Amino acid sequence: MKYASEINRRRTFAIISHPDAGKTTLTEKFLLFGGAIQTAGAVKSNKIKKHATSDFMEIERQRGISVATSVMTFEYKNTLINLLDTPGHKDFAEDTYRTLTAVDSVILVVDSVNGVEDQTRRLMEVISMRKTPVMVFINKMDRDGKNRFDLLEEIEAELKINLHPMTWPINSGKDFKGVYDLRQESLVLFTAGTKADDEEDVVEIKDLSGDTLDKKIGNTDADILREDVELVDGVYGVLDKAKYRSGDIAPVFFGSAVNNFGVKEMLDTFIEIAPDPQPRATTERDVEPGEPKMSGFVFKIHANLDPKHRDRIAFFRICSGKFERNKYYHHVRLDKDFRFSNPYTFLARSKDVVEDAYPGDIVGLFDTGNFKIGDTLTEGENFFFTGIPSFSPEIFKEVVNKDPMKTKQLEKGLMQLTDEGVAQLFTQFGGNKKIIGCVGELQFEVIQYRLLQEYGASVQFNTLPFYKACWITSNDKKKLDDFTRFKMQNVGEDKDGNQVYLAQSEWFLQTERNNNPDIEFHFTSEIH
Ligand code: G4P
Repeated sequence: MKYASEINRRRTFAIISHPDAGKTTLTEKFLLFGGAIQTAGAVKSNKIKKHATSDFMEIERQRGISVATSVMTFEYKNTLINLLDTPGHKDFAEDTYRTLTAVDSVILVVDSVNGVEDQTRRLMEVISMRKTPVMVFINKMDRDGKNRFDLLEEIEAELKINLHPMTWPINSGKDFKGVYDLRQESLVLFTAGTKADDEEDVVEIKDLSGDTLDKKIGNTDADILREDVELVDGVYGVLDKAKYRSGDIAPVFFGSAVNNFGVKEMLDTFIEIAPDPQPRATTERDVEPGEPKMSGFVFKIHANLDPKHRDRIAFFRICSGKFERNKYYHHVRLDKDFRFSNPYTFLARSKDVVEDAYPGDIVGLFDTGNFKIGDTLTEGENFFFTGIPSFSPEIFKEVVNKDPMKTKQLEKGLMQLTDEGVAQLFTQFGGNKKIIGCVGELQFEVIQYRLLQEYGASVQFNTLPFYKACWITSNDKKKLDDFTRFKMQNVGEDKDGNQVYLAQSEWFLQTERNNNPDIEFHFTSEIH
């Protein structure tokens, strides 16, 4: 295997959570451990707190931040960690789902007070589908949270995953005394406000029956901990790493991100057991990271902040071989070779041009409009990486051009914004309307704002009464053509010419499905 040592030392992952569970805070603590930042508060929360018009500016401001924090690369104990950020707001969930295709594992943050929340559930569905290995951080133990056993049970039941506690908490809220590290057999005592460079107060206690434990946490809590640990050991035993890596078991840590407590235990375990860059499926075959030839795919495209430059940054995940600056690579969809003179690295302290990069790494490629989400680069082979989802939108609006002089700009803007994956564009067969489909309302505001700011095109949106768009396919071409002809007003095509049925309601959708057994209705379409 080529570049084995470089591949083995890489960990590419994302932290996911319901908004406010503590993702940003945990990210920041990781970066402190990695020496990538020096002070707390340096990582700005990449979230939009409320839904209001003033959010436009907020979105713009945050896009600046979010390019910088989209990928954070840092080293910790000779491990090179690529941490991929995911937007917290639910209207941008698609972006999160795509980012999850570029990671090898995830850390899920759960708020110990609120337990499993809406977005956690949805994210976990995607993660389970892909069998991505998960570690769980139960945060805010310094607040009066749910009972620890109930919480584990709730997470297991709601997220349909088997948990494996790695640390065990002693109380919560104002009585929170710390955790017992089940693997290291040591007691980690809690003091509010522990800093990253401070040594944690760790006492090795291999034998819980001795009186050191009582001296440290008092008789009552010591007895409860002994009972808990006996129970937990009995039920869970030793962690089966293979089952973690196959996505069947999730190791769990308890802590408090804001106090930097319990974070180090997780990070140390993470670099030890989290998977290094994994093989990835393509339309032709599985690609191994150790293959000598470079390959990878674009999972995110971000417009540059400077409105005078239309440049974009394509986020490219390397899946095999070594990526080199100025070397020609084959853009499979366009059947054209490109080289990149300024590939961008996300190493926290040097936002710099990178000379070479390895599987698991993300490089930012400056793009003038050649890339779409899902594009593959190779050293000549013709395949596409698979599994990058495109979602069925739930809100549909017709684009109305308010300034006919700017028609060209509008078309260009729509094409580019939809390439970025901000929304999907459909053209209705009957009436030729241009329809934008999104998963969240906020995206329409972003589109309207960006069309004006970046392309000078002024648009208005008219809400359409559609409930869902689904891609339609059939082995019987005539049946599909007939359906399209009869349902002109409800059928259109997406940007790539795939046929789409726009259903007014669940009832219509069901009726059409019943009446057309030879036609398949798909709710997500994989880009490849
Ligand atoms: P997110 O990225 O998942 O949305 O969450 P974020 O880290 O921004 O944290 C949400 C809020 O929870 C923040 O407070 C943060 O300080 C707090 N928090 C994070 N970890 C802990 C913890 O272990 N214990 C407690 N008690 N609170 C925690 P905020 O008031 O919304 O923001 P801020 O003004 O403090 O930044």
